[in-house]
Amino acid sequence: MVEKKLAGKVALITGGARGLGKGYALRLAELGADIAIIDRNLENFKVYEFERTQMTTSTVMDECRKLGVKSIGLELDLTDRKATRKAVDQIISEMDKLDIVICNAGGGTTKFADEIGVGAKDIVTTATPSNCPQDTLIRVLNNNLMTCIYTCMAVAPYMKKQKSGKIVTVASSAGIVASGRYFPYGTAKAAIIYYTRTLAKDLGPYNINVNCIAPAIIRTGRLGDRSHMADNIPLRREGTIEDCAKVIEFLVTDLSDYVTGKTITVGGGICDQQ
Ligand SMILES: NC(=O)c1ccc[n+]([C@@H]2O[C@H](COP(=O)([O-])OP(=O)(O)OC[C@H]3O[C@@H](n4cnc5c(N)ncnc54)[C@H](O)[C@@H]3O)[C@@H](O)[C@H]2O)c1
Repeated sequence: MVEKKLAGKVALITGGARGLGKGYALRLAELGADIAIIDRNLENFKVYEFERTQMTTSTVMDECRKLGVKSIGLELDLTDRKATRKAVDQIISEMDKLDIVICNAGGGTTKFADEIGVGAKDIVTTATPSNCPQDTLIRVLNNNLMTCIYTCMAVAPYMKKQKSGKIVTVASSAGIVASGRYFPYGTAKAAIIYYTRTLAKDLGPYNINVNCIAPAIIRTGRLGDRSHMADNIPLRREGTIEDCAKVIEFLVTDLSDYVTGKTITVGGGICDQQ
């Protein structure tokens, strides 16, 4: 039986309709938190078999409700700053408060798989730091960096008034290891690491913790099976959603009350060996 250490708390997970975000939502629901999800498509788990087969109900909100907590879902594009602020206001008005925010929304360099069609990849790596098409540049910075900043800016006034809060941003090993192979995604994620440190300083006096998780090679529907990369990982296996959810649990519970501004890599040692 899991201890309900987040009972009475309300958590927002952006990009929670599938993949890692869904895993974070379910873990926090298991711990007793009521869950709000924002995603540009609340049913986009349907495009990947890996995601589809894990569902026992028709939405992630229903999966959370099955665990005995309240849950709402809002469908919007978080690159729209005004819409993001309105959605956060709506969540606070419907759920009465907001204690935890995981800024997980993000994505690759092409259109989303649910826009292109089943089986399509949402990552191509042809862009380089010295030559990147304008639409790729703007799209990737918007979906990864700006969605994170807009979400944090929308929740900050409320958390400041409340004088408490836990914010977790989501970077990537690609924001730490400057391979240049995955531009401009790595640039967006590196900026999130910087933003986390500076936001932690800004919000620390209000008893708000801001930390960052930087996953490396984690099996989700979007990125597929990458177990063949295990030989390059010190722990010799690709990561799981559960591996990341455990670190999220640390970052949103009282276990991390005196930790802020930090980025924790979850990569089986991959970044730490570079
Ligand atoms: N899977 C990995 O190996 C890995 C590694 C490093 C970092 N990450 C990061 O973790 C996060 C989740 O990754 P995932 O593999 O679960 O991907 P995913 O595509 O399955 O989930 C991302 C979710 O974010 C949503 N989203 C994206 N842009 C949005 C926007 N503008 N507005 C609203 N919703 C939006 C998508 O619709 C999707 O549901 C991302 O930020 C990703 O960069 C993942």
